[in-house]
Amino acid sequence: MPGDLMHQTSRWTIADALKVHADDPTTTMPVIAADFPTMSESVMIWDTGALRDINMNSVTVNGWHVIWSLAADKIDLTNANIAAEWANRNNTAYIGFWYSKTGNGSDWIWGGRLLQKSADLRPWEWSGNLVMREGSENTVDMFYTSCGPVNNDFESVIAVSTGQIHTDDQKVWFTGFDTTVDMFDADGVHEANEAEDPYFDFRDPCPFLNPDDGRVYCVYETNVAGIRGQFVIGANETGPIPPNYTVDPGAGYGAASIGLAILDDGAYEAGDFSRARWTQLGPIVSALGVNDQTERPHVVFQNGKLYLFTISHHSTYSGNLQGPDGVYGFVSDNGLAGPFRPMNASGLVLGNPSSQPYSTYSHFVDAQGYVQSFIDHVPTPTATDPNAVRIGATLAPTVKLVLDDDRSYLTEIHNYGEIFAQRAWPATAAG
Ligand code: FRU
Repeated sequence: MPGDLMHQTSRWTIADALKVHADDPTTTMPVIAADFPTMSESVMIWDTGALRDINMNSVTVNGWHVIWSLAADKIDLTNANIAAEWANRNNTAYIGFWYSKTGNGSDWIWGGRLLQKSADLRPWEWSGNLVMREGSENTVDMFYTSCGPVNNDFESVIAVSTGQIHTDDQKVWFTGFDTTVDMFDADGVHEANEAEDPYFDFRDPCPFLNPDDGRVYCVYETNVAGIRGQFVIGANETGPIPPNYTVDPGAGYGAASIGLAILDDGAYEAGDFSRARWTQLGPIVSALGVNDQTERPHVVFQNGKLYLFTISHHSTYSGNLQGPDGVYGFVSDNGLAGPFRPMNASGLVLGNPSSQPYSTYSHFVDAQGYVQSFIDHVPTPTATDPNAVRIGATLAPTVKLVLDDDRSYLTEIHNYGEIFAQRAWPATAAG
């Protein structure tokens, strides 16, 4: 039955966020060298994830590593205008894939787009997850955000398209991905819709199988239901603040949340992800009063705990709060039922160093604690141009986190774009 789960909405409070500090070596990304390698001359990429199973384990298929990326073709081949192309990339975004024998950063081969253009119900494809269908030989479900302007309106719908993966000795390719199924949209009750919040965020589906009850759930990026600008920030949102602390009147413009939905029993096995099979349950974490964006939420099961990670920006903190661009986290001792506590007391798990505040973004923590992200831009000041930057549009060095209860520690730095798989897909994909 939908709604079985007695879950609560946990809070990322103002008091928690006041503990965020940049440049702690245990929670800070390494400095990115200005001469970082670029994966492709013809395509810019950002949000990326490994092909995985429904239990969140990254997989190889017949020995091949596969990752998906949000992508935009580089139009200006001289790259003179690359900063403008990069800034506008969301408006042409599509999902493509890379494959590699080693999973190492230097040898990813670009495979092109996944979804057939005719299957796009809306102009843009934003983030999601690429998931092997359990029990199948080679079925792949691409959960993604179908969005963009439609009839003078901005639509953003959580969607899925299904295809098949194929491999031979030389390459990996896909068939299918020729239709899109809308899964659910912002309902104004469990999360803000456009009428409530013209800047509403509703995207980045991450479906997974919950080991506690064997059901498929989906976490996704949302805003708290209610009218933007009219939220009252009370004790639930502040947490235990010092007596002299004044809540900034702008705090209520931070209304991010992480949504939770459950799929009907048996629908996953049937490959039926249609609207009628999902029930939205209301947010699992609310950042009301703290931040307006908790993007790309995803889960890690380790040592009997459930970790919930999400990416956020310096620019989306509200009131007078501050924090770096990076990945934030929450942990529950009691699975999805919660409560979730902020990692490291503050919520910050890995932020950019203050010397390079926009160096990396869209961190994804895998089941083993390896964290992959992309390079946005790094400062490359010269005497004549002190504000010069180098645009990344390529993967950052992979790092590793040790998760110890509600603490996280950066412990290893690996190659650019290195991916570690945990599971060899057992079925033999048809060639
Ligand atoms: C994170 C993000 C996602 C969204 C995508 C759009 O980097 O903002 O939330 O799906 O990028 O490019």
